[in-house]
Amino acid sequence: MRWVGLQHKWKTCFTVCSGNVGVLKLFQRATQWNLVLNILLIGSGGREHALAWKIKQSPLCDTLFIAPGNGGTRELGTQVTLDTSDHDSVVAFCRIQNIELVVVGPEGPLVDGLTDSLRQAGILVFGPSKAAAQLEGSKNFTKALCDRMKIPTAAYGHFTNANDARAYVRQKGAPIVIKADGLAAGKGVTVAADLDTALSAIDDCFEGTFGDAGAEVVIEECLVGEEASMFFLCDGTTALPFGTAQDHKRVGDGDTGPNTGGMGAYSPAPVLDEQMQTRVLSEIVEPTLSGMAQAGAPFSGVLYAGLMITKDGPKLIEYNVRFGDPECQVLMMRLQSDLVPLLMACAEGDLAGKSAEWSDSFALTIVMAAKGYPGAYEKGSRISGLEALSGDMIEVFHAGTELRGEQVHAVGGRVLCITAGGKDAGSAQRLAYGAVQQVNWPEGFWRTDIGARAVAREQ
Ligand code: AMP
Ligand code: GLY
Repeated sequence: MRWVGLQHKWKTCFTVCSGNVGVLKLFQRATQWNLVLNILLIGSGGREHALAWKIKQSPLCDTLFIAPGNGGTRELGTQVTLDTSDHDSVVAFCRIQNIELVVVGPEGPLVDGLTDSLRQAGILVFGPSKAAAQLEGSKNFTKALCDRMKIPTAAYGHFTNANDARAYVRQKGAPIVIKADGLAAGKGVTVAADLDTALSAIDDCFEGTFGDAGAEVVIEECLVGEEASMFFLCDGTTALPFGTAQDHKRVGDGDTGPNTGGMGAYSPAPVLDEQMQTRVLSEIVEPTLSGMAQAGAPFSGVLYAGLMITKDGPKLIEYNVRFGDPECQVLMMRLQSDLVPLLMACAEGDLAGKSAEWSDSFALTIVMAAKGYPGAYEKGSRISGLEALSGDMIEVFHAGTELRGEQVHAVGGRVLCITAGGKDAGSAQRLAYGAVQQVNWPEGFWRTDIGARAVAREQ
């Protein structure tokens, strides 16, 4: 961290001291003295475009590097190609570029322990350790923690062979939920309405459809209620509530078709009123942080609680150890506070007493995806009409795009996140769909009912 105008001197000093966390803290305590940082953001999705957009608004951000970024992040920072599985090369890059804060977007590098390597090198990093990332990396790890800390969640069994798993579902009956234990790119969960579907999902896991992720299986009671997500910034001991959202996971209108990474989201989630948020914090998230600290794996970073709001109160469906995508886009649209000091406070273990300001407005994002997604899709089609989409209440966050010259091309499944703000769900929805209509991309598709539940509540 450096004073503006004394950059070289402080860069040198920082490099010399970078292994010394005590000295680092002294530097960081001086944020009110107009210091600036070089920041590295890792990831390439709509989530990372939204994070880059917000980070770049911070007076604390000097140079922003994004590895690898996408077609939308080019104007916000320097795009770099880094092999995030090669931790030494990421550390070396940080040293050469005097990176003072690393923000890790996706779960892959978190579960792989990139943050541990960076911390060992004395580099400040936002994101959990490998041990703490098990909250997303292993469903059985999280269920066992829920057992120990009496956190409300679905009843479950854990299996390492197909015969025992089959016997369990025959005994419990359907509906029932079958989950590959490890990371399976969002595809490892089957909510089985009947026994045959449950049995074939068990076969899929143990026959290797999800690789190593399916070698262990968690089978859960099917929860009934309304699903919503709540986010928390964490520093190992303190959890700061950081917004609520609802996602649209299925590919088709009316929640039909296969699961995707998310086809749209809105924030706030009306079902998570203040009283419910207080219950989520005290019944679910605070015991989680205590349990993780007791296990020697304190959680810092962002904790994303996937919840079912049942007639008995909130129950944990799953944890993710990163911002949701596209939920992050709507959170960043509503966040009024400077994001960078909050990320720093998580990284430094200094979150107690901090708060975040939110706009009262509603935000909604519609994902435009390549036809065929979440199955096979074509890459390389041209997109136009984006230049006209600007204004205070509208942002286009790119996901799977690439710029060839100034021309935007689609190179992924989820491609654009058309994000709008409004005084209520209805106005944000109208603005976002109006903008989608102006995008010229014949090879794309989108759901036409994002936000329908929230709009219906308003009527
Ligand atoms: P996950 O990958 O764990 O987020 O699960 C994908 C989706 O499956 C969730 O968003 C829920 O809609 C659904 N799901 C997971 N677990 C349960 C459960 N125990 N009861 C009902 N639905 C569930
Ligand atoms: N949108 C769901 C997720 O990020 O996991």
